Amino acid sequence: MARQHLVTIADHRPVTARLRWLALQAGDLARDVRPGNYLLLRCDDPGDGYRLLRRPLFIAATMPELGQVALLYEAHEPGLAWLARRSVGETLDAFGVFGRPLSLDSRLHNLLLVGAGAGLAALIFAARVAASHAAVTLLAVASDPDGLPPSFLLPGATEYLTGTGADLAASVTAMLQPAAGVSPLAWADALVAALPPDALTVLSQVVRTVRFRWSRGFALALIDIPPGCGVGACGVCAVELRGAACLPCVEGPWFDLRDIER
Ligand code: FES
Repeated sequence: MARQHLVTIADHRPVTARLRWLALQAGDLARDVRPGNYLLLRCDDPGDGYRLLRRPLFIAATMPELGQVALLYEAHEPGLAWLARRSVGETLDAFGVFGRPLSLDSRLHNLLLVGAGAGLAALIFAARVAASHAAVTLLAVASDPDGLPPSFLLPGATEYLTGTGADLAASVTAMLQPAAGVSPLAWADALVAALPPDALTVLSQVVRTVRFRWSRGFALALIDIPPGCGVGACGVCAVELRGAACLPCVEGPWFDLRDIER
């Protein structure tokens, strides 16, 4: 059950010119969170009503031995810019945990993660957990190198492939359907994607081209959660999936890619 956590900042630093790593002292969260979970963070000072809504931020790592969880984010709007100005030792107001966790079957041998933007944090967490029992490849795309998480955030055994360019969908296609060589999709047992909608559409097309069979459960994809209530009350995150209304904040945010494709 989601609840309020008043957490202390244990570490807060830039890891690229755009991305910041934020570690929070939160022993109960460090014990309970799973890959795919997110927190809703209050990102304003009292009285700053114009940034009222809490920001959803995916958990990128947990360090139970330190009693910490870590987030990875880009300060691309006023609320997150406020967060970027917070210092070690300050207290933050977090609500959570939200989001159905990703199921990372212990029988999994080859996990392929494909992502861009805010969802990359969840993929990093997935890589850190799955690396104990599976070969993990993370394919990250961004408009420029500063949008790519540094490799030191990943377990050493992770195969980390990156692509940059203004057209993220084109970058995904080039990496998953190479002109020469074998696509990482060919040998993956499972795929988890966190991409913008146009890149997800392209990803679906590439999966259909490369894979002989695409069974349900093979590919999970993220539907973005906008700032909102997180509990199904405000309707701001509502989308239509297979002809029915869906609230990703409570029913997702991870769905079978076959249910999302257009
Ligand atoms: S964020 Fe309010 S209903 Fe989903």
